[in-house]
Amino acid sequence: MSSAIISMEGITKSFNNIPVLNDVDFELREGEIHALLGENGAGKSTLMKILRGVYQPDHGKMIVQGKSYDRFNSPNEARAAGISMVFQEFSLVPTLTVAQNIFLTREIKNRFGLLDDKECERRAKVFFDELEVDIDPQAVVSQLSTGYRQLTEITAALSQEARILIFDEPTASLTQTESLSLFRLMRRLKEKGISMIYISHRMEEIFKIADRITVLRDGRRIITDEISNLTIQKVIEHILGRKAEAIDSRELVSTVQQDQVLLDVKNLKCNRGVNDISFRLHRGEVIGLAGLMGSGRTELMQAIFGINPIKEGDILVKGKSIKVKTPEESMKSDIALIPEDRRVQGLILDHSIRDNFILPMIQLKRLANRNIFVDYRRGNDLAEHYVKTLKIRSDSIEKMVRFLSGGNQQKVVIAKWLSTEPEILLMDEPTAGVDIGTKSEILNIVRDLAKQGKGVIFISSELQELIAVCDRVIVIKNGQVDQVLNRYDIPGEERLHQILQGAGNSG
Ligand SMILES: Nc1ncnc2c1ncn2[C@@H]1O[C@H](COP(=O)(O)OP(=O)(O)OP(=O)(O)O)[C@@H](O)[C@H]1O
Ligand SMILES: [Mg+2]
Repeated sequence: MSSAIISMEGITKSFNNIPVLNDVDFELREGEIHALLGENGAGKSTLMKILRGVYQPDHGKMIVQGKSYDRFNSPNEARAAGISMVFQEFSLVPTLTVAQNIFLTREIKNRFGLLDDKECERRAKVFFDELEVDIDPQAVVSQLSTGYRQLTEITAALSQEARILIFDEPTASLTQTESLSLFRLMRRLKEKGISMIYISHRMEEIFKIADRITVLRDGRRIITDEISNLTIQKVIEHILGRKAEAIDSRELVSTVQQDQVLLDVKNLKCNRGVNDISFRLHRGEVIGLAGLMGSGRTELMQAIFGINPIKEGDILVKGKSIKVKTPEESMKSDIALIPEDRRVQGLILDHSIRDNFILPMIQLKRLANRNIFVDYRRGNDLAEHYVKTLKIRSDSIEKMVRFLSGGNQQKVVIAKWLSTEPEILLMDEPTAGVDIGTKSEILNIVRDLAKQGKGVIFISSELQELIAVCDRVIVIKNGQVDQVLNRYDIPGEERLHQILQGAGNSG
């Protein structure tokens, strides 16, 4: 058995007297992939921020590569101890090349004292070859897909001799194919003796990649064990502290009203991503959009919501043609979009949970009694209601959204759009980054909306969710409809994955 490269012992941390971590022990062994699991707000990121020197613990100590520390006062101190982080929000400079980014902090100068691009590219190539990663060092980062950016970032960390890598939800924004290449790379790194901590809410992934897991619940360590001793079901029980309902074993009762077309999309063409798409969404129907990254799913949603300019074609809501050129116009037609990139598009971080709820209401003038007055009581009620149903972990609805955990911020965005009660709801990866307990809650809400006669269009990279919740799945390929699968023809996850792979893999 390999020895510990990190031991965190008795780590305790409070924010404003509210305990977030309580006497937590955590050990990482040399060359292992250790998954850190727990519900949104369980304390995972906080524990890792302590390890990275972003926060300092109230109590406890850390032993890293044989040296004992009470705290790291800064990320630089932690880095000097050999700890690197692969960020979910990327820290690369988009206008520079891959090679320039990798050597950014230690610019390689030529004999004239200028940045030596050739030498950077040569050294970057050596790294990539060694890791069997196929990236052009001369490529400009802004033109890379998310997956390649992530690989660049990992290479940058390794080029600084990092022995310990922390991944905090790295696959939340990756496609299935990109995730697979990340896992391949992680396995290569493991062979080289690099130790990795891996945070994710996707159970299948964890069972593919991790050697051991540690579960946190309410800031306490519940269990650390070899993955081979566990099952997905068992791990979920540790995370939740109770038995979970399986999302894909539920009976789906159709509520589709075939004679009531809510949304009619006719031969839609956009400059970006959509290349002649037609389909109809009925009252009471949930349509899933499946396809690979770049297939045009997100672009289609954005077109319907007035973010992606329409070149040709028609959109009819309840039989009336609408001209959507801005989100406001679609909102007026009772359409709402829960965007993919929620951190950027969805929230005002310096406002409270409650005020983030009130905002779209003001936009919709639904909360304004007499144009000027805002019904704060209703805002309060809604915030309280959704904090409860979606289990948004916060001591109060007055809390600034900035101080919520990543997953809880996501829940606020989802909830605020749900609370506007749109007739047509577009949801782009609504469960990404959301914990296993709340995922099924979101799927329940989707079915409830259908039962109320609303229409939902749903994108998810987790195919079992599409299978669990959709009346029809439309497979999109190259901006066109490739196949339409009806409820009872929706194949199992494995088969659906194959169909997608076959459905083209253009950029
Ligand atoms: N700077 C801060 N000030 C106040 N509270 C904070 C701060 N940072 C984190 N918290 C609180 O600590 C708790 C744990 O947050 P943390 O980000 O560690 O959760 P997490 O396990 O990473 O969750 P997720 O899966 O949602 O990312 C949350 O309740 C959060 O609101
Ligand atoms: Mg987190």
